[in-house]
Amino acid sequence: MKNFTHYNPTKIVFGKDTIKSLEELLPDERRILIVYGGGSIKKNGVYDQVINSTKGKTVFEFSGIECNPSYSTCIKAVELVKKENIDFILAVGGGSVLDAVKFIAAAGAVESNDYWELIVKKGIIEKVIDFGTVLTLPATSSEMNCKAVISNLETHEKLPINNPLLYPVFSILDPETTYSLPLKQVANGVVDTYVHVLEQYLTTDLNTAVQDRWSESLLTTLIELADKVMREPNDYDSRANLMFAALFGNNGFIGLGVDQDWATHKIGHEITAMYGVDHAQSLAIVLPGLLSLQRKSKQKKLLAYARNVWGITMGDSNVVIDEAITRTSLFFQSVGISGRFVDYKIDPEEAAEAIGNIFIKRDSFLGENQDISGEVVKKILLNRQCLYS
Ligand code: NZQ
Ligand code: ZN
Repeated sequence: MKNFTHYNPTKIVFGKDTIKSLEELLPDERRILIVYGGGSIKKNGVYDQVINSTKGKTVFEFSGIECNPSYSTCIKAVELVKKENIDFILAVGGGSVLDAVKFIAAAGAVESNDYWELIVKKGIIEKVIDFGTVLTLPATSSEMNCKAVISNLETHEKLPINNPLLYPVFSILDPETTYSLPLKQVANGVVDTYVHVLEQYLTTDLNTAVQDRWSESLLTTLIELADKVMREPNDYDSRANLMFAALFGNNGFIGLGVDQDWATHKIGHEITAMYGVDHAQSLAIVLPGLLSLQRKSKQKKLLAYARNVWGITMGDSNVVIDEAITRTSLFFQSVGISGRFVDYKIDPEEAAEAIGNIFIKRDSFLGENQDISGEVVKKILLNRQCLYS
């Protein structure tokens, strides 16, 4: 196991009817900006619950954060933050709203207006405005991590920020808020969480027994739950278990002391930036080819994954690994998420070339061993040997 330091200050309030705890969680004297997306919270009653729980406090609103939040929309919110001297921000929504608020909290706290620097120059965020969240979509763990991903529509970039100041002060997770999710977003959340776990689990074998069992329990839980949540959307326990699984997929715990990959995410972000596919769809496109091509360096973990998650034990290593990758793709397909470029009307050859070239231009190398070059990215995106056999 590798050495690690762990710090996570986010207070989690989990369960039915918990939005009303905003009354105590939000300081009375603060000037609060409520930030949300395209209006789902007005249809499912979450907005009313938030407004009722903030009565008597000084509250402003900013709406219209889009999926894959854009830099230009966030800047409009930053201007409002500065104009109204906002000193607390409340994100209400899915990962996009939460990520946007993290960036707004950082940009709203700086004097200069070269906000893009906060994203591209690592480590320059020195202070942020306090923020909390009310989560309505289990997927990203943004509610309990210090990461955000912001898209620049002009330059077609989708870039991550990762800074210890970006942990929410609190996050409220009421599984009942997720009853209204469209099936597609439930599926996106399941696949995103699944891949978060694999990015931390399918790496080097470092004899991390507890972390590996945690990861396997999250993966098997997702496999067991996905179908039930989609068939019985108002089943509280399934929603609660899914929300809990998503929380732990990317809040740092399963990644303690292990090697982490994240190449699928980095390649996926570029696919989203270029072609507009959903985050989870991009991951489903990248993952099978990546696992197939990285089968040597990931061999021990891939075999453990095949055995402990899918119960595959028969056959030589390559057969077992191929079967595990195929089962993974079929699981994604079973919730309606295809891993084929053509299903998103994207030409595979063109996409592989274009996305690979981005990494060649940046001279960046991905993966836990930093051995995935832009040329390897092209091979990954064209490798479909294990799909749909
Ligand atoms: O905008 P509204 O109207 O709220 O509608 C949203 C949006 O259309 C809707 N929705 C959310 N909660 C709902 C609901 N509809 C009905 N009922 C509800 N309860 O769902 C749609 C998708 O929302 P979005 O926030 O975009 O989805 P998600 O939570 O999957 O977030 C995706 C974003 O998070 C980033 C992704 O790259 C992407 O930009 N990620 C953030 C990470 C992090 N901060 O750690 C890690 C992830 O790997 C990921 O990269
Ligand atoms: Zn993700």
